[in-house]
Amino acid sequence: MSNQRSGLVAEEKQALLAAIVSSSQDAIVSKTLKGVITSWNPAAERLFGYKEREVLGKHISLIIPEDRIHEEDFILEQIGRGQRIEHFETVRKAKNGTLIPISLTISPVFNERKEIIGASKIARDISEMIASKLEKERLYEEVNVLSRKKDEFIALAAHELKTPITSLRGFMEVLQLHATADSLQAGLLERCVRQTNKLTTLLNDLLDVSRLQIGKLLLRCEKFDLVAMVQEVLSGFTHSARHRFIFKNKKPVVIYADRIRLEQVLTNLLNNAVKYTPAGGTVTIKMREAAGKVYVSVRDEGLGIEPEHLTKIFNQFYRAVDPGANISGLGIGLYISKEIITRHGGTIGVKSRKGSGSVFVFSIPKQYQQ
Ligand SMILES: Nc1ncnc2c1ncn2[C@@H]1O[C@H](COP(=O)(O)OP(=O)(O)OP(=O)(O)O)[C@@H](O)[C@H]1O
Ligand SMILES: [Mg+2]
Repeated sequence: MSNQRSGLVAEEKQALLAAIVSSSQDAIVSKTLKGVITSWNPAAERLFGYKEREVLGKHISLIIPEDRIHEEDFILEQIGRGQRIEHFETVRKAKNGTLIPISLTISPVFNERKEIIGASKIARDISEMIASKLEKERLYEEVNVLSRKKDEFIALAAHELKTPITSLRGFMEVLQLHATADSLQAGLLERCVRQTNKLTTLLNDLLDVSRLQIGKLLLRCEKFDLVAMVQEVLSGFTHSARHRFIFKNKKPVVIYADRIRLEQVLTNLLNNAVKYTPAGGTVTIKMREAAGKVYVSVRDEGLGIEPEHLTKIFNQFYRAVDPGANISGLGIGLYISKEIITRHGGTIGVKSRKGSGSVFVFSIPKQYQQ
């Protein structure tokens, strides 16, 4: 009884397997260890164009392009050793001569005595996958070309705009010499100079972005006192009546780094601290040394940043400002700062909560090493 039952189950299993093979979308083929085809499912008929009756008893080389015949030796050798071959990407030839890119998975077939009697192979047509991969590569290359063109354009435009602005600046200085102190002209000229300075900074930032793209931003390192540098940069911020600046460090911290570039980083961080704290408040700068590095933090009590933006604000042209807030900027200050710090072998990061201010910290080795 039990034998009869297990017989039935085995028969059912056999039927089920046959149904799976014949309804599979993948071509499933079996062959002997000598490469003679012993089964060929409907998907194989569709993929290769041969009917089962045409191929049974024939050698598998029927569908192997001539320049790939050697693959069969390798496959049969692997199978003979009882090894499986997975996702082997190759090309096979259909009845009408078309070459079809396929992914092959080949497994040894054992008899009841665990002897290898042949191989079963599953072939999946990967033409579409390859076509979409090629299309992706083409699009990627196109985007790269466009992006390079954009960088070249930015560099060129910024460079061209700098010359007239430098002339304007010169003319204004001459006018300033002739304007009577405290007159309306003197006041307006002072504002013109400030605006042209802003323009120059903007253009320099844009030029830095393109220099960074092409790896031309070089560091010019020197020995200097970072504490004195911070004090000097801060002296340019005291005009902001709504913001208070605290920096208590007095003892010199001498480092070897690019002074001008670090001034740029600090200026960017302080500009942000002021710009994104429209209601005013305290900006605290702290500096400490540890294990050959110096850490500088800039804390503000401003708008803060949503968590999802925190890692992205260091990306080029990324801004996390509410459109309603009406705060202008290009979104490159932090990108440039991060690049400068990274090139010094340091790191920069931020901690912030929306509505409760932000703290930006950067650290660099005290002794820059090329
Ligand atoms: N202290 C800060 N408080 C709140 N948000 C900040 C602060 N600093 C930077 N951010 C956010 O990070 C974004 C990127 O800053 P980044 O300095 O790179 O660009 P930006 O200030 O918008 O423009 P710019 O290129 O003129 O500096 C800002 O748009 C802002 O959303
Ligand atoms: Mg900024």
